Amino acid sequence: MVRALLLTAGMLTAIAGVRADDKPLDRGEIDKRAYKLAYDTALKGTELYNVAKDQAGCLRLYEGAVPALAAFLDHRPELAKTIAAQLAEADRLATVKDKAFALRKALDAVMEQTGEKAALKKPLWERLGGEKAVRAVIHDFVLAAAPDPKVDFFRGGKFPLDAKGVEKLEQYLVELVSATTGGPLKYTGRDMKSSHKGMKITEAEFTALAGHLVATLKKYKVPQAEIDELVGIVAGTAKDIVEVKK
Ligand code: HEM
Repeated sequence: MVRALLLTAGMLTAIAGVRADDKPLDRGEIDKRAYKLAYDTALKGTELYNVAKDQAGCLRLYEGAVPALAAFLDHRPELAKTIAAQLAEADRLATVKDKAFALRKALDAVMEQTGEKAALKKPLWERLGGEKAVRAVIHDFVLAAAPDPKVDFFRGGKFPLDAKGVEKLEQYLVELVSATTGGPLKYTGRDMKSSHKGMKITEAEFTALAGHLVATLKKYKVPQAEIDELVGIVAGTAKDIVEVKK
């Protein structure tokens, strides 16, 4: 058991790290590391289970690694859901063997969706249509969301952005989408926490804003898979933006 936990801790250090230049890891890199962690865990688990005949050890290893993996995959909401379902299934099942197999399924799902084949897929930026398409989407999205009282974008007049301010914001949003979806533009604005600090943005306002994004993407006939992926990325910013849980 101690050995299994040490193994998990070592594997996790590999995924949680930042680059040597201190920049946060991009999604491709997180996927690569998640794949390696899932692969190493499954390999070690199979060895424990089949060679050492240590079913309980295998289960402990999976019980450590699978929830930890889920915590790194919030940019893949569907995969995170699959993992949560397998964790619940393992909880419900009675025998060590069944529990271990349920968690192994979660590891398989991670490998399937973050592995080589997944990496061959074009970056989301390209699948969204690149800069021209993203610019058009962002422009229409801001036009729709800004006047919506459910979003209260200008915070009761405390942030009265003029045309130039809106233009700048759109530029930042395009850059942000690029930087988080594998595009070529670097994000040059402030981080999400400090730029929204004190705005008292509620969960409901955030959801209303996300609704405008989905509606605009649909208007532009962006396929559902790409909508889910982008909305998953945006949802990941809620922890830094939402200050009021209601
Ligand atoms: C209901 C939710 C939100 C509201 C009400 C809101 C409101 C605002 C306002 C008023 C500003 C201008 C701040 C200033 O001029 O100092 C701003 C800046 C910004 N927001 Fe939001 N925002 C929301 C959610 C989001 C989300 C979900 C994202 C992206 C994922 C985002 C990205 C940005 C960016 C990139 C900036 C510019 C940062 C900078 O000035 O360097 N916002 N937001």
